[in-house]
Amino acid sequence: MLDTEKLTFEHQCGGAVIAERLVLSAAHCFDKHPLQVERIRLVMGEHRLNIQDKHEHRFLVEKVVPHPEFRKNGPHSNDIALILVARSNHVQFNSHVRPICLPDAGAESAGRWCAVTGWGYQTESTESFAPVLRAAAVPVLDLATCRKDQILGGRQQAILDSMICAGILSGGVDACKGDSGGPLACTHGGRWQLHGVVSWGAGCGRRARPGVYTRVAAYVDWITRTASALGHRL
Ligand code: ARG
Repeated sequence: MLDTEKLTFEHQCGGAVIAERLVLSAAHCFDKHPLQVERIRLVMGEHRLNIQDKHEHRFLVEKVVPHPEFRKNGPHSNDIALILVARSNHVQFNSHVRPICLPDAGAESAGRWCAVTGWGYQTESTESFAPVLRAAAVPVLDLATCRKDQILGGRQQAILDSMICAGILSGGVDACKGDSGGPLACTHGGRWQLHGVVSWGAGCGRRARPGVYTRVAAYVDWITRTASALGHRL
């Protein structure tokens, strides 16, 4: 989870730990304070948003690398960013903080049920973040379904191959504001893999309006290259 500063720090977005000092999130999460890393605090092991949890630790951020082609192919395209945690504090994996696996490059997820988690709004109009981490199970839709005009087709942002649509078409279960950057996690052979990053939607939980996620499998090469450019092995 990331917090960016106003007067004090406030919740902004989610994220997923993929290695000791690497967190994956959404590029649009950094629109507000473009890459002013000193205004960001990254929290690992968070559970209750407004209470200091036993396993929660705050970290400074050394660098944020948004995808170089963010917004190149529509307002939500390539909505992914890699965050390097500052070296000052040591990240310790434990029962509450551990990295999620990346999917195999090109991994398919249509038809699978996955979990989306975060502290985002519980309805489109609540305007407050969830006090305790929430999780919802959502099925991954195939792109052809998602591209239908009655679903998310024919809009300003086309549903690209580098996106995943997931959600219940009858409505009611979805990510929402504040969940951005957080994981869409799917189990695969007994391990959790990060298939999506919460990116955008049309409202929240509306009928025939699934959530749209950045398809991590399409970015495994970029993530690996960027990690090594940052001097971090994956
Ligand atoms: N963009 C939103 C955020 O910044 C999250 C959008 C996800 N919306 C949805 N209906 N799945 O937190």
